[in-house]
Formats: sequence, C-alpha cells, structure tokens
Amino acid sequence: MCGIVAYVGKEMAEPILIDGLARLEYRGYDSAGLSLAGKNGIVTVKSQGRLQQLKERVGQLDSEDRFCGIAHTRWASHGKPSDANAHPHYTEKVSLVHNGIIENYLDLKNFAQNNNYDFLSETDTETVAKLLDYFYQGNPFSAIKKVIEKIEGSYALAILFADRPKEIYGIRKDSPLIIGLGQTGNWLASDLTAILPYTKQYILLEENEIVQIQENEVKIYSLEREMKEKKVQQMNWSLEEAQKNHFPHFMLKEIFDQPTALKNTLFPRLRKNQIDFRQDGLPENFFLPFKKIFFVACGTAMHAGNIGKFLIESFSRIPTEVDFASEFRYRNPILKQDDLMIFISQSGETADTLAALRLAKSKGICTLAIVNAVNSSIAREADYLLMTHAGPEIAVASTKAFSTQLILLFILALHLAQQKQAMTKDEVSLAVSSLKNSIVDIEGILNRKEEVQQIVQKLDLLHTEHLFFIGRGLDYLVGLEASLKLKEISYIHSEAYAAGELKHGTIALIEEGSIVVAIATDENILAKTISNIKEVVARGAKIFLVIAEGMEVEDSLLEYCFVLPKTEKTLSPFLSTVVFQLFAYYAAMERGCDVDKPKNLAKSVTIE
Ligand code: G6P
Repeated sequence: MCGIVAYVGKEMAEPILIDGLARLEYRGYDSAGLSLAGKNGIVTVKSQGRLQQLKERVGQLDSEDRFCGIAHTRWASHGKPSDANAHPHYTEKVSLVHNGIIENYLDLKNFAQNNNYDFLSETDTETVAKLLDYFYQGNPFSAIKKVIEKIEGSYALAILFADRPKEIYGIRKDSPLIIGLGQTGNWLASDLTAILPYTKQYILLEENEIVQIQENEVKIYSLEREMKEKKVQQMNWSLEEAQKNHFPHFMLKEIFDQPTALKNTLFPRLRKNQIDFRQDGLPENFFLPFKKIFFVACGTAMHAGNIGKFLIESFSRIPTEVDFASEFRYRNPILKQDDLMIFISQSGETADTLAALRLAKSKGICTLAIVNAVNSSIAREADYLLMTHAGPEIAVASTKAFSTQLILLFILALHLAQQKQAMTKDEVSLAVSSLKNSIVDIEGILNRKEEVQQIVQKLDLLHTEHLFFIGRGLDYLVGLEASLKLKEISYIHSEAYAAGELKHGTIALIEEGSIVVAIATDENILAKTISNIKEVVARGAKIFLVIAEGMEVEDSLLEYCFVLPKTEKTLSPFLSTVVFQLFAYYAAMERGCDVDKPKNLAKSVTIE
C-alpha cells in the first residue's frame, strides 16, 4: 500500500524523506520517488524497485541544499510498477504524491488532453497533477479546491508548488494524512510510523481541510478558507503499535482494512460501471476462446477458487474445475489448448502453486495469476497477471487477501459472462452496483464486531474442542474457509460440511452440546438447510445461525444468531466471510492464542 512522507524545516529534506520512506517499507511497495524544492525549482527523482535504487539516483543530484520535499512509496494499482508510474507526478508548476484511487481519472485525462497536456504515465494520479497545473494561477487554495471539486474517489495528497519552495500543501478524502509537528520542522505523512523518531506530536487532518505546512508554522483551513483550530495529539506508540494502527493484532487490523482493500482492487478495473481489464494487460475479448477454466491454489486461496468456480458456472455456464495445487500435478490432469488455468496466491511464492503453474506452461496452456505480492515468482512467470491490492498481509491467517481474491473473481466471472454473451451490459452494471453496496455492508458488519465477540463468549468457545460448519451452495464454500480460519488460529478442531451431506456419516459425532455453525443466506434453499439444522438440534447440538435480513426462522433457532444485511445471493460470501473472520479472531482471543503467529504455520510455504 502506498506511503507518503513530506517535510519542510531547518534540516536537509532528502535524508529525512528517505528515512521516512524506509519506515513505510513494511506497507509494501514496488517503486519510490521524491521531489525536492529549492531556489532553482523542483527536482524529482523516481525509481522502480527498492529504496536503495532511489537513494543511488538521489546521490547523483547537484549539491544544492534543499529543505522541503515530498516522497512516496508506490504499490501499483493503475499501471505496472515502473519509473514513469512511480510518484511524484509533476509539471513545471506543481509536483504531488497521492495515496488512494481517482475513480473518474479517464474523464479527467480526456479533459487534460483536450487542454494540451501530454501524459507520461499510466496512473490515475498524473491526471491530478495536470489538473492542478491547469487551475494554478498563483493561489494554491483556490487551485486545490477546484481540483477536488472535479475528482471522484479517495485521496491523500501532498503537494509542492515550484514558486513556493518553502511550503507543502495537503488534503485528504477516505485516505489518511497526518501532520507531524517537530522541533526542526513539520511533516505530512500517511502513517505515524514515518515520523516516529522525529516527533510525537501530531494533528489528524480531516476531510475537506487544506493544510499548509512551513518550517515554523502549520495552518489548516476549511475549503471556504476559514482558519481551523485543531487539537494536537500526543503519540505514545512503539513502532509495532503504530504499524498496527491502534489495533491489538495485525489480523484484526487486516480484517478492518478490507473495505479499503476491496475498493483498491475493484475501482482500477471499473469504467462507467463496466469491467475493464485493459490496464492489467488483458487483450480485448481475452476470455472468449476458452472452453474450460481451472483454478489451482492452496489453502485459503483454494477456497477463493471454489467460490470463483461457483460464480463462473452460474454466470456463464463455462465448466470450471478447482484443484489443490499439491494434487493437480500428480493426477495427470486432462488439459486442452482451449483451457485457461488460473493460479491464485497471496504470496505468489507457494511452491506447489508455482510448480503447477510451470507444469501448465510446459504444456502450452494459457496461464493467468491472481497474486497479491508484486514481483513474486508466480506474478512474474504467469502469462497474464491480475493483482489483488490488499496491501501487505502480516498476520499468518489470510483475511484481506482472501476477500480481494473474491472481488477479483467476482468481476472476472462477470466479465467472462459478458464476453460469452451470457450477460448483458446492463446486467453487469447492475451487478457492479450491488458489489459496491456490499463493500458498504462490510463496513456495517465490522461496526458490529462486539456482537460476534458476545456470541463467541456465550457459546463458550474457550471450552470447545470440536465444531461443525454447515451450509449449502455458496454458504458451504464459505464454511470451508470459516472452518480453516478457526482451526488455524484458535486450534479448535472444526469441519465444514455441505448441510445435506452431514447425515451420511458425520452426524454420528453430534452429541449433547456440540456446536454447529449453520450458514443459510440463500432464501431459495432455506427450508432445506433448516431441515438439516433440525437434524442436529434433535441430537442436542447448539446452533450459531448466520442468516440474511428478512428471512423467517423459528425463534428456537435464534438464540445465537447473526443477521447479515440483505444482498444478492452471489454476494453473500463477501458478508458472511467477515463474520467468520471475526468469529475465529475472538475465539482465538478467548483461548489466549497467538493470533498473528499461530503455531506450526508459515505465511508463505515454499516447500512442496
Ligand atoms: C499457507 C498459509 C495459508 C495460505 C496458503 C496459500 O499455508 O498459511 O494462509 O492460504 O499458504 O498461500 P498463498 O500465498 O499461495 O495464497
């Protein structure tokens, strides 16, 4: 995820900015850059790759002393990692760095091109630099105000104006920006970690505020140019606490990162509510020739593949198979030249998935990777690549990587259906609107985290050794991932069963007090699932029921119940998954487990 640091003060800006960027490295990045303002104007240096490469380039600059600058680490969304796509983006008059996504950047680009601006990068951010240049006539406030009236999306921006080399401007919406107040100068940063060694005093910038920082002064204005009084806050966090952004564990932070991660993954692929993978390098009508799809992955990523299969087969009736990567290679799979193989991996380094990818390539099958880690082996070796923009996932148990895999698979399935003429443009647009609404619904579920915590306590998961998840269709597939999450971090043994299958053997394990988590979000098969629930209730099971708003269920089954917002059937996994991430998290907390680093597990498994 991108990072911003900006400094103006008595010290030379360059080492402070490079140090700040190094402190933001934990967020993950694929390129970095900075702009320094001096009496001869602004110089900008950018580099794909590690910070060391940027440092070497900065070392080649002339020897002018510069005390003001902005810097950025980029995690690619619009446009691949490259020098040109790295921030800052600049013109003769302005230079800026940006976190977030400009949703209407294509319209803005047209506007700028019609006004004779040439573009050097594939990024959404460059449109903001061009727009700011267009509006800037010597008054930064009115130019910034005009720009933000035109842009849609999320942003934290730090801006330099060439004719104002001793000041930096900042503004934000939906992306954080803080102001650091130091002895030797002042800072803007996306994240407190960037300024931790220099100052403990900071101000949170709110939306619709413009900040101007100078060596000795910080001024915050409303958009109407009224000066605002702001509370100075004192930070007493360690580096690790700052990285967790006040959450007690990385896992909980990452669960809460999901709305942003989902938007970051979705929005770069939308154009006027239609899906567009051209930025990712997929040719027009890419999916048209394929007659069969394979998903190959491990662990949580394989569970995303299961849901991908369900969606593709429902939307376009294209036969789809899902394999554990470790099994795929040894089962002598039947592969044809008109198959598409999709490899899903958070780390991009899982040995079995990588080996399966190499096998597919050796047989001349077209390969597409869905990966979160930039420049990983799977990302580099697949023929085509779709990145999830979850940002680095530090907790071993995967949460936001999984949900961003789901959102990519959802739009991939829609796009495929449209190319195969199984869905119309209007149907896709409607589905995309519902998808956007589910991100809002996820925010609502996160705000109800205490409800899940109370259910965990009431069910007494502290003393539970076995648990079953049941559901039908997509609910069953969500159950598989929910069960894995619970096992991974709370060490409760659990199994997920297709609700109708339990009675064919496993029901023998149900006894007085057994806990069964029943997921029933599909109105059409509710009655069937309820029958299966009753089968286990009759044998003494306690039920934790997850249903959707508006469903009629008898009171006796509602003692432990979480009601999801009503949504389309195919979108319910986005919502129910979040409940079960919280369920696993609170179960692990109850049992005093090391949530972020569960025993026996590794984040990335590079052995077969
Ligand atoms: C490990 C992790 C799992 C992950 C799986 C696949 O087993 O502990 O959380 O789902 O690898 O990892 P990948 O990086 O390929 O998604």
